[in-house]
Amino acid sequence: MHRQPSRDREHIPCSNRRLYGTDEFFAVTVMQSGNRGFRFNLRHDILKIAMATEKTFYLETFGCQMNAHDSEKVIGTLQQQGYRQVESEEDAGLILYNTCSIRDKAEQKVFNRLNDYKKLHKAGKRFGVLGCVAQQEGGKIFERAPYVSLVSGSASYRKLPEMLARLESGETRITGLDDRQTDETFETEFTARQNPYRGYITIIEGCDKFCSYCVVPYTRGKERSRSSSSVLAEARRIADMGYTEIQLLGQNVNSYRDAEGKSSFAELLASVGQVPGIRRVRFTTSHPRDFTRDIVEAIDAVPTLCDHVHLPVQSGSSRVLKLMAREYTREWYLERISWIKAARRPISLSTDIIVGFPGETPDDFIETMDLLAEVEYDCVFGFKYSARPNTPALTMIDSISEAEKSHRLQVLLDRQREIQRVNYSKHLGQIIEVMVEGMNPARGQVAGRSSQNKPVNFTCAQPIAPAPGSYAQVRITGAFPNSLVGEAV
Ligand code: 5AD
Ligand code: SF4
Repeated sequence: MHRQPSRDREHIPCSNRRLYGTDEFFAVTVMQSGNRGFRFNLRHDILKIAMATEKTFYLETFGCQMNAHDSEKVIGTLQQQGYRQVESEEDAGLILYNTCSIRDKAEQKVFNRLNDYKKLHKAGKRFGVLGCVAQQEGGKIFERAPYVSLVSGSASYRKLPEMLARLESGETRITGLDDRQTDETFETEFTARQNPYRGYITIIEGCDKFCSYCVVPYTRGKERSRSSSSVLAEARRIADMGYTEIQLLGQNVNSYRDAEGKSSFAELLASVGQVPGIRRVRFTTSHPRDFTRDIVEAIDAVPTLCDHVHLPVQSGSSRVLKLMAREYTREWYLERISWIKAARRPISLSTDIIVGFPGETPDDFIETMDLLAEVEYDCVFGFKYSARPNTPALTMIDSISEAEKSHRLQVLLDRQREIQRVNYSKHLGQIIEVMVEGMNPARGQVAGRSSQNKPVNFTCAQPIAPAPGSYAQVRITGAFPNSLVGEAV
C-alpha cells in the first residue's frame, strides 16, 4: 500500500515555537494570573516578545537538483537551530539565496536581486548568499551588497550551525569559502524534505573533472564520496518515511568511491534498489568517461532501478570534446550507448549538449546533429556556450556570434523534437506504470512520470485524485514530443 511520505521527524521541532507559540504555554500563563486584564496584557506582551525574538527565514533556490537538495539540508539545519521557515521575504528575519552560476550571467542576476531587497535591509532583516555564486564571488559580495552578512559555498555547509551562531551574535561579514579542498561531506540527519514523492540522496560532492567550460570544480570543490553504509542508512530512513522513489545525486556519480571501500557505484545502486519499500531509483549525473558496463548489468538485475540513463555528451565531435577536456571521444561515448541499448529492457536515454563552444565549426556541429540521429534520445537539454569565470575555455577565442549560437541551438532542438515525436509515439497502446506527481486541474488530468522519466498526463475515473507518490497503471492513448497522454486502467 502507498504511504504518503511523512515529514522528517527531525525537522519539525522548533525551539522558539515550543517556548512561545503553543497553546500549552498560554494556558500556563492564564492559570498563574488571577486578574483578567493583566492576563490579557501578559499574553499580548508574550506574543509581542515571541514575534520579536522568533527566528524566521526565507530561502529561495536556483539551479540544479544538487542545489534543490542542498537547500533541503540547509532548511533542516536551520530548523534544528530553532528557525522557522516562512513563505515570503517580508515575514523573514533572515533571507537566504541558494545560487547557481553554471551558465549565463548568473552572478549579475543575484546582484540585481539583492539590490531589489535593499529596502528590506532597513527593516532589520539579515541576508545570506549561499551556493555557487557565493563561492565564485566570495568577499566581493560584501563590497557590492554591504547589507549581506553571510556568504557561503556548498563545501562549507557543514559549518552552518557555527556560522548561524555568529550571525545571531551580531557579526556581519561571515564567510564559508575555504573548504573546497575538504574531504568531508555535508551529512545531516536534519533534512527537511520538500519533494513529496522523491527522496534525494547526495552520494558524491564536488568534481575533479575540470571540463574546460565548467565552473563546478571551482565552486563545489574537490570530489568526495560518502560511505556506502551512510548512503544506505539514509535510503532506509527515506523508505521508512514513506518515500518509494530515491534519486542518487552527484556531479559525476560514476566516479563514486566508497569511503569504506565496500561498494562500486553499480553495487551501491543495486543495494539502494533492494531497500525494502523502494520502488524506483534514479541517478544523475553520469559522466561517459567513468560510466561502466556494470551499471547496465545492475539495471538488468534489479527491477527497481529505473530504465533511464542521463549521459551528457556535450558534443558529437571528438575534436570539440578534446577542447572541452571531456576525456572521451565520440566513439568511446557511442560504445557506452551501445551497452545501454543492449540492456534487457529498453533504457531511455537523455543528454546535455553545448552548442557554439569556442572553435566549434559547422562540420563539428553536423557531427553533433548526426549523433542525435544515431542515439535517438528521449530528451536533450541544449545550451548555448556561455563563458564562465576562472575556466580554461575563457581564454579560448569565442568567435561564434550569439546569433549563430542561437541558430545552432534552434536547429538542434527542432531536429530533436522530431526524434522525440517518433520515440514517444512508440508507446501508443502500451500500459505503463506511472508515479503520480500532481494534478493539472485546468485539464482535469493527473500528472506523473514513467520509470523512463517520461511525463505522462492521464485521466482517472476515481472522484478523488490519486496522491503524489502513488502509482497508477495507465493506457497510453496519445503521444506528443515531450509527453504522453492516457487513462488509468
Ligand atoms: N556553458 C553552457 N553550458 C554549460 N553547461 C555547463 N557549463 C556550461 C557553460 N559554461 C551545461 C553542460 C552541463 C549542464 C549541467 O550545463 O551541458 O552538462
Ligand atoms: Fe562540470 Fe565536467 Fe564536472 Fe560535469 S563533469 S560538473 S561538466 S566539470
